[in-house]
Amino acid sequence: MTPAPKPEILAAFEAAKGFMPVGEGLALYAAAVEAGGLGLPLLEVGTYCGRSTLLLADAARAAGVTALTVDHHRGSEEQQPGWEYHDPETVDPELGLMDTLPTFRRTLHKAGLEEHVIALVGRSPQVARVWAAPLALVFIDGGHTDEHATADYEGWAPHVAEGGLLVIHDVFPDPADEFTGQAPYRIYLRALESGAFEEISVTDSLRVLRRTGAGI
Ligand SMILES: C[S@@+](CC[C@H](N)C(=O)[O-])C[C@H]1O[C@@H](n2cnc3c(N)ncnc32)[C@H](O)[C@@H]1O
Repeated sequence: MTPAPKPEILAAFEAAKGFMPVGEGLALYAAAVEAGGLGLPLLEVGTYCGRSTLLLADAARAAGVTALTVDHHRGSEEQQPGWEYHDPETVDPELGLMDTLPTFRRTLHKAGLEEHVIALVGRSPQVARVWAAPLALVFIDGGHTDEHATADYEGWAPHVAEGGLLVIHDVFPDPADEFTGQAPYRIYLRALESGAFEEISVTDSLRVLRRTGAGI
């Protein structure tokens, strides 16, 4: 049977600010539960307000591991004022800059999952440069430009352990379907073409790959 989060966790996910539809969330949760069996941490790039983090945290709790989530909390290009995905509530009134960290912390606290998560606040490539430990799962949902998606892939995919999972969000093979660019699709293709990963599931724009060999 496919593992599913408890109703209260699913309700918290649905109530949280964010962009992930429920179907993709359930696929992410199932991948996280499976990967958690490796006994290694789960890592997300792109925390935003914690919507997807809730699912990784709950899976981490079940597996007795920790979920890590990386974000500078200043928002992606398409989330800035004047852009389609901007939410004025995410702006720090004193600085006039986006700051999703307080909302993220509230989301996690209200769901009772704070102790299962380490928030890494910083730029993904900079955090990746000081990271050395193997990971059971890497979920890439950060910046959607080629520069950011490529840096996320090159910085984090090397840390996916043998048998671990690489999950990529917003993979749109058809340019007519994409809304923030096809960079996630290009890193997905690169992972498959590397020969180091095989695809194990497709749920809308969420792709789950398993490491079957060395490299990226
Ligand atoms: C699409 S949102 C993540 C959505 C979240 N996973 C969810 O399901 O609600 C992308 C996030 O990536 C962050 N981000 C973009 N580029 C980044 C970078 N280079 N380093 C760290 N965070 C980055 C943004 O601040 C934003 O919060």
